[in-house]
Amino acid sequence: MLLDLLENESALEVLDRAVNLRNLGRPIINLGVGQPDARTPQHVCAAAIKAIEEGKHGYTPPLGIPELRKCVANYVKRRFDCEVSNEQIVITPGGKMSICWALLVCQAMAGDADAEFIYPDPGFPIYASMARASGAKAVPLALNSDDGYATRAEYLKPLLNKNSRLLIVNSPHNPTGGVMSAEHWQEIAELLMDYPKVTVLSDEIYSDFIFSDNSRHASLLALSSMRERSIIVHGWSKSFAMTGWRLGWSIWPETFIPLVFSLAVNSYSCPAEHVQHAGIAALQGKNNSGTYEHTEKMRKNFARRAKLISKSLNAIDGISCIEPRGAFYVYPSLEGRGLLGIDVQNRWLDEIDVAVVAGAGFGNTGKHHIRISCAASDDDITEALARIEKWLQKNQ
Ligand SMILES: Cc1ncc(COP(=O)(O)O)c(C=O)c1O
Repeated sequence: MLLDLLENESALEVLDRAVNLRNLGRPIINLGVGQPDARTPQHVCAAAIKAIEEGKHGYTPPLGIPELRKCVANYVKRRFDCEVSNEQIVITPGGKMSICWALLVCQAMAGDADAEFIYPDPGFPIYASMARASGAKAVPLALNSDDGYATRAEYLKPLLNKNSRLLIVNSPHNPTGGVMSAEHWQEIAELLMDYPKVTVLSDEIYSDFIFSDNSRHASLLALSSMRERSIIVHGWSKSFAMTGWRLGWSIWPETFIPLVFSLAVNSYSCPAEHVQHAGIAALQGKNNSGTYEHTEKMRKNFARRAKLISKSLNAIDGISCIEPRGAFYVYPSLEGRGLLGIDVQNRWLDEIDVAVVAGAGFGNTGKHHIRISCAASDDDITEALARIEKWLQKNQ
């Protein structure tokens, strides 16, 4: 592993600065870090407390307690109509851990120095950072706003060759709010028929946040032809407002599991036991109802706020953004104002106490963009938009 190639995640750097400034008494509005503004559902907190009180606070099997792995398999069957075995499911301390393991395992399994990993640009920065550090060649796939930033087979095709070993797809997408359709997936699966050595890592951590009431998340799980080479990353962080609990789940081809097991054993041993019990309560729903009112409420809030933010920004001369269709981010370009995202990130934090993240942190295509999180209260968003409009008037 090439540790000197690891990069930082700018959203967490901005969070660090924003928290320090708030502690100094500044009226910071944080539209930077990607975490729901809601609290973890009460019944989930109660399950964790109960587990601790019952003494469930020890080591567990490295890939998760059997009842949680089974609970995830049942959830996947219910939600995606897809059969997976309990043994294919891995519980990790956060979804990010599954991404790290996927990149390391794919590099180990590729077994040659020339392996190429294709990742979305813009995209979650960990993909490129870990791809490089794993020793693979990291190949950016530039997403296009005209396609709503979906990963499309036509852009993928020229990047594929005999060394390609991994394709990373993220939908709903951080930082743009782009969403893949079932047809987009189908086109990719057809293209990959000619590249049987390519594994697909589908990061579906935002799948509960599709904004249209009339459409459903298109999961890679729907494509049975891809099952033997799909890794699905998911988790509790976003869906159940549990970012700080550190709990994720992923589905793997069975042949990958022994290596994931070894990585878990050699690093964190296991996810925290009481947190895993909270994970069961979350997936079972309040009173074991199998329904998720709390998640649905967040989805509606994010959809409304994303519309408000994108509409307000598009009304300003020189700013443009697509209306996001999922996740909880808006990704405007300020190129028409001649502004770089990094300057906007720094100046808005310093001058108007608004934290956003520069697009450059998400890849080479993002230098004029910023990412704005919709996971803040309506009042905070309205106030932030007012400060932004005033700043833009002053800085023509
Ligand atoms: C696209 C994407 N994948 C994965 C993660 C990691 O989530 P977790 O907090 O569960 O590690 C994030 C977090 O922001 C994300 O944006």
